[in-house]
Amino acid sequence: MPGDSTLRFPLAASIPARTQVGIVGAGPAGLMLGHLLHRQGIDSIIVENRSRQHVVERVRAGVLEQGTVDLMHEVGVGARLGREGLRHRGIYLAFDGARHHIDMAALTGGRAITVYGQNEVVHDLIEARIETGRPLLFEAGDVGVHDLDSSRPRVTFRSAGAAHEVVCDVIAGCDGFHGICRPTIPASHQHIYERVYPFGWLGILAEAAPSSTELVYSRHERGFALFSMRSPTVTRLYLQCAPDEDLGPWTDDRIWSELRARLSTDDGWRPNEGPILQKSVTGMRSFVVEPMRYGRLFLAGDAAHIVPPTGAKGLNLAMADVYRLSGAIAEHYRSGKRAADGLVFREGAGTNVAGAALLVVDDVAAAPQRQRQPVRPSSPARRTGVSCQFDRCHDEPGRELLRRAVRL
Ligand code: APR
Repeated sequence: MPGDSTLRFPLAASIPARTQVGIVGAGPAGLMLGHLLHRQGIDSIIVENRSRQHVVERVRAGVLEQGTVDLMHEVGVGARLGREGLRHRGIYLAFDGARHHIDMAALTGGRAITVYGQNEVVHDLIEARIETGRPLLFEAGDVGVHDLDSSRPRVTFRSAGAAHEVVCDVIAGCDGFHGICRPTIPASHQHIYERVYPFGWLGILAEAAPSSTELVYSRHERGFALFSMRSPTVTRLYLQCAPDEDLGPWTDDRIWSELRARLSTDDGWRPNEGPILQKSVTGMRSFVVEPMRYGRLFLAGDAAHIVPPTGAKGLNLAMADVYRLSGAIAEHYRSGKRAADGLVFREGAGTNVAGAALLVVDDVAAAPQRQRQPVRPSSPARRTGVSCQFDRCHDEPGRELLRRAVRL
């Protein structure tokens, strides 16, 4: 049951001493990676420090790009998505009191976005994992990764009071932005690029039927606002605010009044209102570390890069990362030696998985011309040199990475 926080897989006694791939984190990246590897006959253990209930109920992203939807169907976890996902042909851009429809499907040969909560994706992937019988462990304590530059890297953790160690061929750091894998990489091997934006989003979930079938992005003199949804009965809405906005003065009435002011259009359209189920302030940050590997540790998803929620991109990038990583790991086992494209076991610095460079490209495209500045390493302590600027990534390798991502 998704709500059963006591459910642990596997039982402590069946935790293996050795596996092929040790996966840290049971978010979308870790769970999808485990599933992709399973389909290629590769064993793994997934070690997650939170409870199953927490992982499934956490409110996160909710927009799947076509590539993610296709992947979910292709690997047999798309049945409920097909039934319950809300497919959108396009979006509305609103300004000066009018909404303008952008028919993305018509412009992209039928590709569309699908609204389906990350928690639903995670729920479906957990079910699929349990079905395989391969180990998935919740509520692991003191998770650590070791000997990353050897051929026998290890994952250690505590479960049900006992200490465990699993020797792996490869470790995948899918433990999100605040995980332990990225900080385990020596600072001298990390190049970090980061931009913190001077605004945040005040987001709410409301029990109200969406009043538009597609998202509305509104530019308004009072600040940006976004109308979105999670289901036929739940609306998701955002207001641009200060990055450190105090939620205290934001009563429900004030939030609705501000949303009406920024979103209503001259044709009489406005969001339906209802009880507010949740409110929070999200800061905006772009962050990427490269290379996304150190020895036998490979970072994927939020562990390696985050983008602001403005583009609904993070979950989709995470899926793209593990799709490529699983292919490279499978190639390694198939060929019995280093992967042909050098993605997995190429030694030395400079190895790059598409996602990292892609984010930089992605950010260039998103940033207004005047804001395209060199990226700053985030912390002098972790600085190892700035080898890339956003604008420089408009070169041919950057464009090739972008083309590859579009194909995913
Ligand atoms: N040990 C084990 N697991 C950990 C640890 C740790 N020390 N630290 C964090 N985790 C777990 C988290 O609890 C979480 O379940 O790793 C998982 C990481 O999941 P996400 O943060 O969802 O990251 P990811 O799988 O990369 O998903 C992509 O992009 O834009 C976002 O909302 C989107 O969260 C999504 C993300």
